[in-house]
Formats: sequence, C-alpha cells, structure tokens
Amino acid sequence: MKISVIGCGYLGAVHAVAMAELGHDVVGVDVDADRIALLADGKAPFFEPELDQLLERGLASGRLQFTTSPTSAADADVHFLAVGTPQKPGAHAADLTYVDAAFATILGVAKSGSLIVGKSTVPVGTAQRLAAQLPAHGETVSLAWNPEFLREGFAIKDTLEPDRLVYGVVAGDQGREDAERLDAVYHAAISTGTPRIVTDYATSELVKVSANAFLATKISFINAISEIADVAGADITALADAIGQDARIGRRFLNAGVGFGGGCLPKDIRAFAARAEELGKGSSLAFLNEVDAINLRQRQRVVDLAVEALGGSVNERRIVILGVSFKPNSDDVRDSPALDVAVQLKGLGADVVATDPEGIENARRRHPQLSYVPSLRDALRDAELVVLVTEWQEYRDIDPRDASSLVARPHIIDGRNALDPVRWRASGWTYRGMGRP
Ligand code: UDX
Repeated sequence: MKISVIGCGYLGAVHAVAMAELGHDVVGVDVDADRIALLADGKAPFFEPELDQLLERGLASGRLQFTTSPTSAADADVHFLAVGTPQKPGAHAADLTYVDAAFATILGVAKSGSLIVGKSTVPVGTAQRLAAQLPAHGETVSLAWNPEFLREGFAIKDTLEPDRLVYGVVAGDQGREDAERLDAVYHAAISTGTPRIVTDYATSELVKVSANAFLATKISFINAISEIADVAGADITALADAIGQDARIGRRFLNAGVGFGGGCLPKDIRAFAARAEELGKGSSLAFLNEVDAINLRQRQRVVDLAVEALGGSVNERRIVILGVSFKPNSDDVRDSPALDVAVQLKGLGADVVATDPEGIENARRRHPQLSYVPSLRDALRDAELVVLVTEWQEYRDIDPRDASSLVARPHIIDGRNALDPVRWRASGWTYRGMGRP
C-alpha cells in the first residue's frame, strides 16, 4: 500500500521504517528539515535498537522516503498522523497544536478515497472534533484512530509485533471499510493472530491513556509501599516478587525506585486528569494527581538519601550519577527522573559528574551546567557517593570490588534497586536501596 507518515519524531520515524519493512511504499513527512535530512541519509535522529539497520534497509529498497514536502504524500492510500502531543506550557492539558496543524496539512493534499489514521495520543473527543472537518460532500476522506503502544527501547518490535491492535472507526459501512484497510496495512500482525479490537473513536482514544494511567499507577503504588517498607524495615523487592506471583497482579511494572519519566507516562496522566476536569469528572481521575505526586516524591527521596549519606550536606562533595536517560536503552531525557536528581544535587552545591551510555548529548543540551563524563571508570574516579538512577546493563554489571578501587568513598545509593545488596556490602560498600533494609 502507499502510506504516508506525518511527523517523524519517535513514533513517526519508527512507524515509517516499520511500514516499509512490511513491504509498503512509505513517505515520511516532517517540518524539521534537519531531521528529514538525517533520516534520508540513513541516520536515526535518536538512539533506538535496530532502527539504523531497518532504516538502511528501507532506503535501499526504494520503498522508504523522507521529505519536508506534504505534497509528496498526496498519492498515499493511508496517511498516519504521528505528531507529538506534549504538555502545554504552564498547564497539565495536552498541546494539540501539532495534531491540528498536521491534520489540516493532510486534508489539503489527501486524495479522494484515502484514509487518515491518527496514532498520536490525544484527549478523548479529539478524533470526533477532527472528523467534523472532513469534507462533507464530493471527495471522501475518512478518519480512524489507531493508538500506538510502543515502548522506547523496544519500539521496532512493538510496532512489527504489537500485542494488540486497536481501531477506532465510525459506525456502519465506512467504518468496516476503514478497518479492512487497516487490516491490509497490518496484514503481517493480523495473520499471526494479534488480537484486534474494532471500536469507536472515544474508546480507542481512552484505551491508550487508560493503559498508560494504569502502568503509572502500578509504579506509584509500589513506590508508595516502598516508602512504608523503608520505615518498617521491610524489603520491597521480596514483597513485589511475592505479590507479583498472583496472576491478577503480575510482577511487571512493580519495580520500586526513582519512578517513571519519559515523553509519555508523566504528560499522559496529567493530560488525562485535565481532560476529566474539562468533562466535569475531575474527581474520577483525582487519584492520578496522587500518582504524579508519589512519583515526583521519589526523586526527592533519592536526593534526601544523598544528603543523608554525606552527613547532612552535599556542598562541594563529588557525586557520580549513573544514568541520565529516563530508562535504559534510550537516549531520551524528557522528564527523566535521573537527570532531575542530578540537577537537584547540583543545585545543592554538589560537584556532580553524570555519565550515561547514550543520553549525554541530549542531557547536555538541556542542562549544560552539569559535568558529563562518557567513560564509566573515569566518572567513578574519586567519587564520594555513587547514585545509580538509570539501570543500564553496564551499571548492573559493575564489579563492586573493582569500583571500590576507583572511588574515594565506597557508598552507593541504588535508586533503581538494580544491584545485589549482599554482594556490594560484601565488597566493602555502604549500600542504600529504595525500600530495602
Ligand atoms: C510507555 C508505555 O509503556 C508504552 O506502552 C506507551 O506507548 C508509551 O509510554 P515508555 O515511555 O517507552 O513507554 O517507557 P516504559 O518502559 O513504560 O517506562 C516508563 C518509565 O517507568 C521509565 O522511566 C521506567 O524507568 C519506569 N518504570 C518502569 C519504573 O520505575 N518501574 C517499573 O517497574 C517499570
């Protein structure tokens, strides 16, 4: 099929590349000329495992193109709308400027009979509002909403082998036709039995934000319990292992620590709560404000542990921060708890050195006041305190004996409960986790 993808950020670039991998003819469109130049040159504009190889393969096949010109999308049978919906400055609601602009752009070029498919995460009611702008007579262009559930670090796999497909379509024949067209796009996943839920616009929009709200709630739940574990002398990891055995609860997303960040969970729960307010149901989602507050408190908790570890003041003390990206296998530092901790400690006068396998460039752009050291060994040298805040495999693999020969003082705060306290203590370290005795 001929496909266009409007917006080549995280979601759109991955989607375009994955669609070409499936054999479709794809054009990716973005207003950012630098980003398009990189993609057209076969270079991924951000770190994502496998993306480079698939990008290269797509470009070499001739089925994948990138352009800043929307008219190149005129020919497409299906247009995916994959622009960002960031948090509005100074508010909790989502900023729909990019969605509205991209939709207007596609409408300006879409040929009769084509289908526009929203993938961006939007407040419930957005698809209905956009559908009202579709031409009422003559040319027919239809709209479906098809939320994306990809995780950074697993984005290619999540796109090619999703665990479910959700289509929000209009009622009647048009909706059936649109769903069939999406089935053709996702033929590979459909043929392997991927569950497919065909529903209305509002449900499809709510599925996405509810999934993220649930995941965020799960993390804040375990973090709240870990605060209790701390004062009660209990072990949150053993507790999570035990409750996670219950299939109704499940062990995943029960890792206590410095909390969630990134370009999705924090802004999505805020936008969801803001939308509930607009709909006159603020109290229904008031708990999400608490989920947010618990989450932000974990960052402060790590900072407090650092101050305590250094005897009441971090001023001019050398602290190494392991990790700046919001999670491992990503260079994304948007709303990163790790970077937030580093910035707060710097603000308290600490001599902060931060390291990360992939995130340094992005972190430096946002926070040039911090010192960044790419090599883990160099970063550890002479540290009076080590703070692990992003659990990259190479940090999990640190040999505590070797590390103790580099630092000035063997004291570690494990903000992700990623290390084995017994092993670290046996190597002479003072170890503090989050909700671990
Ligand atoms: C998330 C959703 O998982 C995905 O389905 C959606 O499409 C986009 O948002 P992503 O932002 O890539 O994906 O990250 P995710 O893997 O969900 O992690 C989010 C944050 O939660 C990270 O900061 C991670 O470190 C943290 N986390 C995750 C925990 O603190 N504890 C856990 O147990 C799991």
